[in-house]
Amino acid sequence: MKNLSYQKLQTLQTPTYLYSEEVLRAQVKALRESLPEEMGIFYSFKANSHERLAKVLQSEGVGADVASVNELKVALRAQFKSEHIEFTGPGKSEEALRLAIHSRIASIVVESVEELLLINQISTELKIVTSISLRVNPELSVSATGKKLNKQSSQFGVDEDQAPEFFAILKKCSHVKLVGLHVFSQSQILSGQILEQNFALTMAAILRLCVHLTQPLDMVNLGGGFGIPYYEGQSSLQMTSLKSALVQILTEARKESVLQAAKFFVESGRFIAGPAGVYAAPVLYTKESQGKRFVVLGGGFSHNMAVCGVGQILRRNYKTQVFQKQKDTSLETVTLVGPSCYALDTLAVDLALSRLVRGDWVIFENCGSYGASFSPMNFLSFAPAQERFIEDL
Ligand SMILES: Cc1ncc(COP(=O)(O)O)c(C=O)c1O
Repeated sequence: MKNLSYQKLQTLQTPTYLYSEEVLRAQVKALRESLPEEMGIFYSFKANSHERLAKVLQSEGVGADVASVNELKVALRAQFKSEHIEFTGPGKSEEALRLAIHSRIASIVVESVEELLLINQISTELKIVTSISLRVNPELSVSATGKKLNKQSSQFGVDEDQAPEFFAILKKCSHVKLVGLHVFSQSQILSGQILEQNFALTMAAILRLCVHLTQPLDMVNLGGGFGIPYYEGQSSLQMTSLKSALVQILTEARKESVLQAAKFFVESGRFIAGPAGVYAAPVLYTKESQGKRFVVLGGGFSHNMAVCGVGQILRRNYKTQVFQKQKDTSLETVTLVGPSCYALDTLAVDLALSRLVRGDWVIFENCGSYGASFSPMNFLSFAPAQERFIEDL
């Protein structure tokens, strides 16, 4: 993130998520340039549903992929048009469904037969024909490391081999229209090649399902998986051949009559919002224990579970930067911990950093996604992290 300085951080006083409109826009541009022009992008609000961030993304022309009634409300407040909103998630509440149906969003992505029946019931009551997509759990997919996965059980979507039964029940639903198919099978892929395999397998599943359809589809969401480099040694996702691979995949797909007029989409949360945010925490104290140097920061686990290793299989340190009142470049190996009495409140282990003193700041990169939205802000009743934009400092 550009334009960060000790002086600006000092004005924050307390731990803060700092977002950048400029980086957000640049991430959307980078994603768009890696895709065929005809493809659309949905931004997954679960990564970060801050309203101002949502407004920026709305102005960039992406759609909203929401997963709760409150995310849907934020999307509507941020002026996303109904026809640019889709709603995923296996456990949508009745309140959420009612708002989605009433708002006539582009597609409610249905994840079970029981959900389909409830949508039909509410839609009949409201005298609305609701557009839905079916989320499919495909028979074949690929893991983030490229391992082929066959017939994985999942709480998400309807198994591919149960889809014909779903379509049969759908025919009896008078107030629901199937407008799309949706597959999302993987996150955090850092290899362009694996991403391409993921999309090819997804399209193969879509094509297998099309033989059961008699009506043309309006939209097909091929999911995503666009990863970002969180740790030292990881490099950015290279998508140099993705566009041509997708052009080929779409050309093949268009041969299927029900897909001829469909618009194709990808969805992404972390790739768009992750690099557009940092988590900044001030140094409170430094101390030593059994020869190990600890730096106690003003914030940690309650603000940022991911930095503390939740969700990681092997604990690794996020990329960090330090901002000091008085530059001291002599390196020391430190463990960065948060303010709570909880051992998991550890933000980095044995990290070589410039010598820190009270009042300095540590910045953790790639925290614009699954930072504030993924953390137990009420833990120990600490004050929640602030959320600010660098453009305002
Ligand atoms: C259905 C669905 N869509 C989109 C996403 C966003 O994934 P990411 O933030 O990795 O792009 C997820 C993440 O779990 C998801 O489950």
